[in-house]
Amino acid sequence: MKHERSTFSNRIGFVLAAAGSAVGLGNIWRFPYLAAQYGGGMFLLVYLILAVTFGFALMITEIAIGRKTKLSCIGAYQKLSKKFGFLGWIASAIPIIIVPYYCVIGGWVTKYFVDFLTGQGSQIAKDADNYFNTFITVGDSGIFQNPMLWFVIYVLAAAAVVLFGVEKGIEKVSRIMMPILVVLSIIVAVFSLSMPDALEGLKYYLLPDFSNFSPMTVLAAMGQLFYSMSLAMGIMITYGSYMKKEDNLERSVGQIEIFDTGIAFIAGLMIIPAVFAFSGGDESALSAGPGLMFVTLPKVFGEMKLGQVVGTVFFLLVMFAALTSSISLMETVVSIVQDKLHWGRKKSTLVITAGILLLGTLSCLGYGPLASVQILGKAFLDFFDFMSNSVLMPIVAFLTCILIGFIVGTKTISDEVKLSGNFKREKLFIVMIKWVAPICIIAILASSIAEGMGLFHF
Ligand code: PHE
Repeated sequence: MKHERSTFSNRIGFVLAAAGSAVGLGNIWRFPYLAAQYGGGMFLLVYLILAVTFGFALMITEIAIGRKTKLSCIGAYQKLSKKFGFLGWIASAIPIIIVPYYCVIGGWVTKYFVDFLTGQGSQIAKDADNYFNTFITVGDSGIFQNPMLWFVIYVLAAAAVVLFGVEKGIEKVSRIMMPILVVLSIIVAVFSLSMPDALEGLKYYLLPDFSNFSPMTVLAAMGQLFYSMSLAMGIMITYGSYMKKEDNLERSVGQIEIFDTGIAFIAGLMIIPAVFAFSGGDESALSAGPGLMFVTLPKVFGEMKLGQVVGTVFFLLVMFAALTSSISLMETVVSIVQDKLHWGRKKSTLVITAGILLLGTLSCLGYGPLASVQILGKAFLDFFDFMSNSVLMPIVAFLTCILIGFIVGTKTISDEVKLSGNFKREKLFIVMIKWVAPICIIAILASSIAEGMGLFHF
């Protein structure tokens, strides 16, 4: 490289930037619905165990690979091993699958923000299930009730930021907004917990019930871990490549994990007890899936004194958290296209945006006009989510473990970590990368593919 690679100015800057990518819809929208669906406390327990063992090992590996090679994903894997160069390509394909549907959810959030802003919050609260259903199935012919409109607005907003390169400004704003989001979420969580029946929900969320355990619990938790921490898609490699050699790597990883997991945990507190308060823990309410946040939260705001205001601010903050994540995802895809096809920034961004609009339309209309088209029995959005989180990311993670554990050797990573301090959890890291993680991933992947193809059901 001709240019000196730019670096983060200090370690906290690095931790905040990585946490900014990690914290997004994954924490606030995806985590609570998976936890509700896959056994509450059991899911939480499995998730936490995976985060401190597997998540830790994989994150430290990716950041160290980036910092060692000073290259982003595709180049980094190639440099480590010619044979494993293809891994960088698979990893970079993952954001391409995620961005379009991420923007669909971003559009939903934008719509709810505008609804609350224009004073329709209490109206929605009265019939939240129906409202959301009608919205995503395009059951109302009004243009403002059409999810396509909100999806397009959201994509254009994100694309404009990438095109004009003003992400620095957005990042500054989100540095202020993220802490407010945390405080507001805690307030909403406390309120949710004070509702009648909420205690039952709290028990469901916090106390593991072993009868709720299944391989799908582990698979869902693992997929969520990758998604939430932006792992197994080359993103942390890129971040690592901007990190200074003297900054403590192990401590940074610990802090990013605490940040990310903490916010997901609070989001669960905000939503799951409230589900019990409104439905008494009814099975179908718990397995509501992607719609959970959009159905439960408006009801909570409906019960709150200043619900209209709190709801407006809340959806605005979530929109920002989502926007920063979409921008970093989109930016990744644009830079891959720029590097590999040697296109200019403008052309790359425009082509990518068109691609996102096209692919995203499938997800956006997948519950309505396109509901008859299903892949592996799933609507488009759920299919893309399943493919990236439950199939491709585990494959990338597995091959990364094999590459580090048996081809280049764990010492490569350990040495890089030790450049900037002790490596206290080195033994854990080695055992995870060489043995536990690959064996678990293969077992889980096999069962998930079998399940996905409908061979059997857990
Ligand atoms: N981790 C983000 C989330 O939890 C999603 C994301 C993945 C964002 C990769 C950027 C890059 O929402």
